[in-house]
Amino acid sequence: MNFTFWDRICRTFNWFVQIVQRTLPVPVREDDGSKNIFIPEIPEVEEMNQETTRLRWLWEKMKGYRVLYVAACGLTILYNILQLTVPFFTQEIVDTFLTGENAAYNLEHDTGRFVLMVVGMIGVTFIRTVIVYLACMGFERVSQMTLYRIRNELFAKIQRQDMHFYDQYRTGDLMTRLTGDLDAVRHMIAWVVRMLIECFTLFMAAAIYFFYLDVKVAASILIVSPFILLVTLAFKRQVAPMHTILREKLAQMNTAAQENISGNRVVKAFAREQYEIEKFQERNLEYAKANKQTVLTWLRFFPVIEICANLLPVILLVVGGLAMIDGTLTSGEYVAFSCLTWAISNPMRNLGSIMNEFQRFMSASAKVMELAASEPKIVDKADAKDHPERFKGKIEFRNVSFSYEGKPVLSDVSFTIKAGQTVAIMGETGSGKTSLIQLIPRFYDPEQGQVLVDDTDVRDLKLHQLRKNIGMATQDILLYSDTIDGNIAYGNSSMPMSTVQKYAEYAAAKEFIAHLPQHYDTIIGERGVGLSGGQKQRISLARALAIEPSVLILDDTTSAVDMETEKYIQDHLKQLNFPCTKIIIAQRISSTKDADLILILENGRITEMGTHEELISKKGYYYDVVMLQNGGESIG
Ligand code: GTP
Ligand code: MG
Repeated sequence: MNFTFWDRICRTFNWFVQIVQRTLPVPVREDDGSKNIFIPEIPEVEEMNQETTRLRWLWEKMKGYRVLYVAACGLTILYNILQLTVPFFTQEIVDTFLTGENAAYNLEHDTGRFVLMVVGMIGVTFIRTVIVYLACMGFERVSQMTLYRIRNELFAKIQRQDMHFYDQYRTGDLMTRLTGDLDAVRHMIAWVVRMLIECFTLFMAAAIYFFYLDVKVAASILIVSPFILLVTLAFKRQVAPMHTILREKLAQMNTAAQENISGNRVVKAFAREQYEIEKFQERNLEYAKANKQTVLTWLRFFPVIEICANLLPVILLVVGGLAMIDGTLTSGEYVAFSCLTWAISNPMRNLGSIMNEFQRFMSASAKVMELAASEPKIVDKADAKDHPERFKGKIEFRNVSFSYEGKPVLSDVSFTIKAGQTVAIMGETGSGKTSLIQLIPRFYDPEQGQVLVDDTDVRDLKLHQLRKNIGMATQDILLYSDTIDGNIAYGNSSMPMSTVQKYAEYAAAKEFIAHLPQHYDTIIGERGVGLSGGQKQRISLARALAIEPSVLILDDTTSAVDMETEKYIQDHLKQLNFPCTKIIIAQRISSTKDADLILILENGRITEMGTHEELISKKGYYYDVVMLQNGGESIG
């Protein structure tokens, strides 16, 4: 009988393996190009290292909540073990009170025990519900708090990054990291680990209980499980690159949406709505395809796992039935087996989803960790000079050369601006004017030479002290979706209203603000939507002036205002009630002619330098511009 029993098992298993081999996908090996049958691959060392590194990072981020997390894991183990009490009680009730020769007698004479068992079953179910609730609360709390912490850290990290970082990363990609990727990390803490523990505990507890009940039946049922594990591991490896692609496609789609929404006015101006819709549809389709591809990978493995899971009751029926006929298994024990086959099959079924989510975590956490580890290149030196006092505003460029990723933009630029002077920078578009002024607040560092403020190399100063002294109205104006007041007072939240109003007046913004519905409390749209180009420039100028900087840098700030308003602004800039060195990039001679020094940049080199009169007499680029702007007449 024994021989027949094992023979049957072995034959069934062989048959099963054959089915599986036919059902399984045939992964194409890149190395030899041949198709192969299913060979579960052992994870490579590097892959395992990556997993360990990411999990260790996650554990690090859970600091302060680890005890709660371990407790939640413990409760998960407990409530899964408690699941076994139901088949235990059921077996006892069936064997003692429902079947067997003495069933009726027992029920009559031992009713108390019967009631106790039923009440026990109900009681354990109640306790289990409470434990499940507490465990879920624990997982949720830890995951939300960890997410909150990581998101804050990432945001702070992004805030402290330098321009190189912003040149490198797209906004949509960063947004994906802060939202979708972090959600995958949260899901790992709240769901993946919980499910993994649940599956493992249930499986182990059921397996141990099965062996306690009957070794042969238990072995027959459990024989398929190593196979399932290998299949799941194979799936895990196949789905890993899919998640990396999926995540990239999501970031691309988010970037397309973000760029389109912020550039909606350009889209409308060029009537490119249809084109943009199609472009987005394309990205959306790619994302959907990547999603489908990931699901299809699972679906290729799914039948194998489903067949195995569905085989369990059949195995039980055959093997358990035979054992009952043999008299080695009681009806109660059979019922207990039957009650618990789900505890073996469910973990098998869930393992695929768990691995899928784990791989989602792996690709998402790689992106999050990359961001968390990124360090700005432009930082304070360890021995940076402390300069809490207001700067005088002397600026010097000493043989400065600068390039963007190998593309030379400034070459050997040298000049000195005395404190309180006004300097105008002119030059053709792309000649390097914006790049030059960006070196003063250290948005970038020069490759060669030095930029000095008050005779100190800017690299030796503390960044926040340096930047606090510089008021900048950038060429690309960014206003926040906030009130006019909030935008002007951006540099100092406790700025009195009188200061805001004073500098709005200096920037010739007072009048148009008075015409806005809520005046200074009018909320402007994202990036200043709702204001004209010239109005935005004036708000940006008022914002730069309001911090009363030692160095005021205006990059094409009055290009969109009319000549009369520009004259008004120029006059007020001359009468500022705080000492200030002014650097004005402008194309109009009316903005530059009164400057103490005019610099002409051509292809990143200073080709002319001097006062209006000096440059006129040189008859170079400046002279040509003057002649052009004055219809052939030089102005004195
Ligand atoms: P206008 O503002 O148009 O008058 O030009 P500009 O004189 O201010 O020129 P800018 O300093 O902005 O640019 C100088 C050169 O550097 C140009 O050839 C640009 O193409 C290049 N450039 C500017 N910004 C970047 C950047 O962020 N990355 C790279 N790679 N190149 C840049
Ligand atoms: Mg520029």
